[in-house]
Amino acid sequence: MALRKILLHPDPRLKKKCEPVTEIDDETRILMQDMLETMYDAPGVGLAAPQIGILKRILVMDVVKEEENAPQPYLMANPEIIWASEEFNTYEEGCLSIPEEFADVQRPEKVRVRYLDQNGETQELDCDGLLATCVQHEIDHLDGKLFIDYLGPVKRSMITGRMKKRKKERASA
Ligand code: NI
Repeated sequence: MALRKILLHPDPRLKKKCEPVTEIDDETRILMQDMLETMYDAPGVGLAAPQIGILKRILVMDVVKEEENAPQPYLMANPEIIWASEEFNTYEEGCLSIPEEFADVQRPEKVRVRYLDQNGETQELDCDGLLATCVQHEIDHLDGKLFIDYLGPVKRSMITGRMKKRKKERASA
């Protein structure tokens, strides 16, 4: 397994619609494991393939934060939301590609997701709470959408401005 480099906003690869996975093969499984390791290392609760520059519909998640609880990783290919509640929830979201920035985003409170697991089996998962927010945030990444796209234009351009400055500082560090 290997850590992969996480792309930072703004980056054209974070704005692309990703391609479905046609086969869950060893290459896909290695990619999923690398993504999981990269996410835990960051640390974060979710990571989508475009965030490491791979434009495929793959994401990983583990919203169990407390160290005393066993990890509960989800590895998903071609995830799609097949049901969403009419009730909405607001969470303060962040993103590994937009570090140090957080904002309230409103999304359906509960969703049901259908996906292929690491064995190529079709699975369905009912999500609520942080898991529901996380899976919607990560699926958005597969369509080139970031959480700041839910904000007003002024707030969004302020965040993008700060990110450009941070990227420059990191590049020259
Ligand atoms: Ni994100």
